[in-house]
Amino acid sequence: MPVNSTRDLLSSQIAPTLLSYREENTLACFISRLNRHGQSTPSRWSKSHPQAGAGSLDGSNKQMKLRGAYALYLYYPIAWAGRVMRTASRRMRGINRNSEQSTSLPKKAAWQLPGFFRPPKLAALHKKNGNVTISELGILAALASTCPNGSVLFEIGTFDGRTTLNLALNTAQDARIVTLDLPQGTEPEFELEIGEGHMVEKESSGDLFLSCNHLSTEDQSKINQEFGDSARFDFSPYHSLCSLFFVDGSHSYEYAKADSLQALRSVAPAGMVVWHDYGVWKGVTRALEELAAEMELDLFHIAGTSLVVWMRSDTGDLRFNHRQV
Ligand SMILES: C[S@@+](CC[C@H](N)C(=O)[O-])C[C@H]1O[C@@H](n2cnc3c(N)ncnc32)[C@H](O)[C@@H]1O
Repeated sequence: MPVNSTRDLLSSQIAPTLLSYREENTLACFISRLNRHGQSTPSRWSKSHPQAGAGSLDGSNKQMKLRGAYALYLYYPIAWAGRVMRTASRRMRGINRNSEQSTSLPKKAAWQLPGFFRPPKLAALHKKNGNVTISELGILAALASTCPNGSVLFEIGTFDGRTTLNLALNTAQDARIVTLDLPQGTEPEFELEIGEGHMVEKESSGDLFLSCNHLSTEDQSKINQEFGDSARFDFSPYHSLCSLFFVDGSHSYEYAKADSLQALRSVAPAGMVVWHDYGVWKGVTRALEELAAEMELDLFHIAGTSLVVWMRSDTGDLRFNHRQV
């Protein structure tokens, strides 16, 4: 077994710690360190892909799939169980955390989603404050792998490009992935949330897919990077076009609501919208619960994560009436 795979596997063996968000980052750091050690023996993939470079965290398809399997089949259930146990333990001890929000959207387990049982390829597992968790990354990648050939995927909120690059890894060669970020120094249309400054004020966006350390040039060429304020961006070319729309921009209520409406307009028949940070940021939680009630949308919350999903189940524009949006 290649050295990276052994280490990946080893790291997954130590996962049975019940993970909090902080512990998750520690584990991701550990995995990343193991992966970097593994680079002393160049993998077959990095030999045949010179663009992988000396700093590549990737590896062969097999290694990336092993990480996908780890994220979905080990990390996800453990992190979910950990959350449930922590919440129960706090309740028993009468501890009330401000950061814990009550949520009301119906829940589904990730294994009820399409693509779950075919491990996606994952790269760049190391999680920064602002990224999705490892389980969420696995779920998003698995969903992307179900998008048909020629799909357009849209992400609001590029940040360091970790999700974007994993969407690119798991889509057909002719897919297009558009990722939008707020340019530096822009006066936003709505007020941003206190606490999201570090995600907005950064030197650059999309470093992880721009660096060539994780993607082949073919996968990299699927990505279109856009800059603009989501409240002013012209989404009309994407209306009813996107197979997957990922909403992960500003967390203020105004932005969450406005971005969601754009996502709903842009999703193709049989496509899906995925939101991040439900139950984490109050503005996002409120916007999604309001939308579900006002528009009678069957939004569901992926248990053990902060993801919410809506699947457009019609094949035309009959059930989903754009007049509502
Ligand atoms: C939570 S981070 C996104 C994380 C990323 N999607 C991932 O999975 O790693 C939020 C991103 O949204 C961007 N953002 C915030 N307000 C925005 C706006 N009004 N329009 C576009 N992007 C925005 C921020 O600059 C930041 O890069």
